[in-house]
Amino acid sequence: MKAKFKQMLYGGDYNPEQWPKEVWQKDMEMFNKAGINSATVNVFSWARIQPSEETYDFKELDEIVEMLTKEGRQIVLATSTAALPAWMVKRYPEVARTDYEGRRHKFGQRHNACPNSLVYRHFIKELTSRLAKRYGKNENVVCWHVNNEYGGECYCENCEKAFRIWLREKYQTIETLNKAWNLSFWGHTIYDWDEVVLPNALSEGLWDGGTAFAGISIDYRRFNSESMLNNYRLERDTIRQYDKDTLITTNLMGTYKELDYFKWAKEMDIVSWDNYPSFDTPWSQTAMNHDLMRGLKDEPFMLMEQTPSQQNWQPYNSLKKPGQMRAQSYQTIAHGADTIQFFQLRRSVGGCEKFHGAVIEHAGSDKARVFREVSELGEELKRIGGSIIGSRNEAKVGILFDWDNYWALEYTSGPNKDLKYVDQILQYYEYFYNKNIPVDMIPADADFGKYALLIAPVLYMVKEGMAEAIEEFVAAGGSFVTGFMSGIVDQSDNVHLGGYPGPLRKLAGVWVEEIDAMAPEQSNALAFKDGTVDGCRMLCDIIHLEGAEEIAQYRSNFYAGTPAVTKNMFGKGCTYYVGTMLTETGLGKLLKMACDSAGIASVIDEDTELEVTRRVAESGAIYFVMNFKDKELPLPAVFVGEKDLLTGTVMGEETLQKYDVRIISSSYPIKSEENKM
Ligand code: GLA
Ligand code: ZN
Repeated sequence: MKAKFKQMLYGGDYNPEQWPKEVWQKDMEMFNKAGINSATVNVFSWARIQPSEETYDFKELDEIVEMLTKEGRQIVLATSTAALPAWMVKRYPEVARTDYEGRRHKFGQRHNACPNSLVYRHFIKELTSRLAKRYGKNENVVCWHVNNEYGGECYCENCEKAFRIWLREKYQTIETLNKAWNLSFWGHTIYDWDEVVLPNALSEGLWDGGTAFAGISIDYRRFNSESMLNNYRLERDTIRQYDKDTLITTNLMGTYKELDYFKWAKEMDIVSWDNYPSFDTPWSQTAMNHDLMRGLKDEPFMLMEQTPSQQNWQPYNSLKKPGQMRAQSYQTIAHGADTIQFFQLRRSVGGCEKFHGAVIEHAGSDKARVFREVSELGEELKRIGGSIIGSRNEAKVGILFDWDNYWALEYTSGPNKDLKYVDQILQYYEYFYNKNIPVDMIPADADFGKYALLIAPVLYMVKEGMAEAIEEFVAAGGSFVTGFMSGIVDQSDNVHLGGYPGPLRKLAGVWVEEIDAMAPEQSNALAFKDGTVDGCRMLCDIIHLEGAEEIAQYRSNFYAGTPAVTKNMFGKGCTYYVGTMLTETGLGKLLKMACDSAGIASVIDEDTELEVTRRVAESGAIYFVMNFKDKELPLPAVFVGEKDLLTGTVMGEETLQKYDVRIISSSYPIKSEENKM
């Protein structure tokens, strides 16, 4: 596909308005040295460019834009609407949020606007239209960055009123609403729309963020995500009135729970996101986040932010070790990024982010380790970025990720409080990651036909049409993996009656009669058909076969000897049902069976502990080989004799140290599943 940018953007958040002008010129020199070709500006400058309700002042922003333009740098122009100016909160207190405890907030912090405040909406429209009129025609402005990291929630009276309107549109009648939320439970039946209240700590919300009525709380999440999306749409549409073609995005946050990013991505020209792993985040999880962000539009994305060294907001903000930032950047690119941008280009002098890493540290020296590493990467990307951008990632495995399920699963009261959506998905993703099998993270309404293997763990909420779509996929020859806590409820969180896993029962060929839950210190064991024994924990489905065959059975408790993992033929394909949480080995065994039957292979035909990820350009495949392990690892034999794009040298039998990277461009495919099939 055609790249959305002319070059790989290399830059990041830049706040010259926080610095005297002498520093600006020094910054430009430093950027040249570091190969910084872009800057994201105006992210938090609302109070600066609109000092009062009646006054706008773009003088300084003009100078910043002019300076960057003269320097030939690409500009990602933010709209500044993510932190309210003090004057606005003073004059219109309703623009501030009311929190889960029901407390109306004062001026302070950021990401703090009530999404349903008409006053806020009025001001963002005004500001965005002025920005778009003024800068939209500047050729160096290559992307609009709307707001910043939308998120959080508001429980104010304006939101409550808007929620009632939203519900009225969705349910039309009070009867339908009562039924959807099952309000006869605890006698919560309502008789008028204005009896609906927001589900926070003052109403249905439980102290721990849980809820007495998941149906209400899930609808509130849908509504809250939609409310913020409406603000994004307002800014986007306003920009479009004056600027017909510059890309428009907002920066997302991976598996961030509050917003249904698949819905958001439909409204964005390109997905961008901020990657902040902590010191102990597994590399597989970071890879999964990238795949999810790519999956939102099934297209290359922007890395809008990462720190060049450390963060400030984690409990322990370790430094990135030498080579780590570079390896992390290549992993990002390998999974589909077409830009590498940092938060931030210059480290702030005060405020809570003064300990946050930056390209230019407090010493301001080009001798600093971080600056040198950023410069080296800048030089490499200048050479090779152009041949990578626009290339695609291809996969035959789809892992379903669905925000409705994320919310619903984690709102359930019982059977096991430790059950977490992302952990469950990651457990599956890890298998493929470790085997270098490409994966697409896909929405519930994806075209499953593109895949040979569809994975949907904890598919708790099966919404209308989903079971039919999966049945069609399996009947046509697809392999489907699902398991415990699947097929349980409908879109309103009411149970699909008649036996679990509800609408997936035919596909799985099983009836789950009961679900046992285990505390962390408890476990069960499994005997696989091949004679091996393994552990299992968290939940145990008690399963009756209805056409499926048993792959493993429980070894203890009163259901010892009954099936725990099964396989069912359905049309030309099959369904694997995993009734309990397997160990890595047990899950590995099962997923190997599924991959074998679905004809899924690794990107290279060789076992390796290195990460090998492939993008596909028109000219051929690009392989990214990366070492994230604490040991030296040999270059896979298939790459010996190939040229490393980074150094231009032909590789021999060599080893990669931790954080070493090789990039190989090859006539597609070297060895791939396509060859074998
Ligand atoms: C987020 C924000 C940035 C900055 C970084 C710090 O990603 O978008 O403004 O606060 O976190 O890590
Ligand atoms: Zn509100």
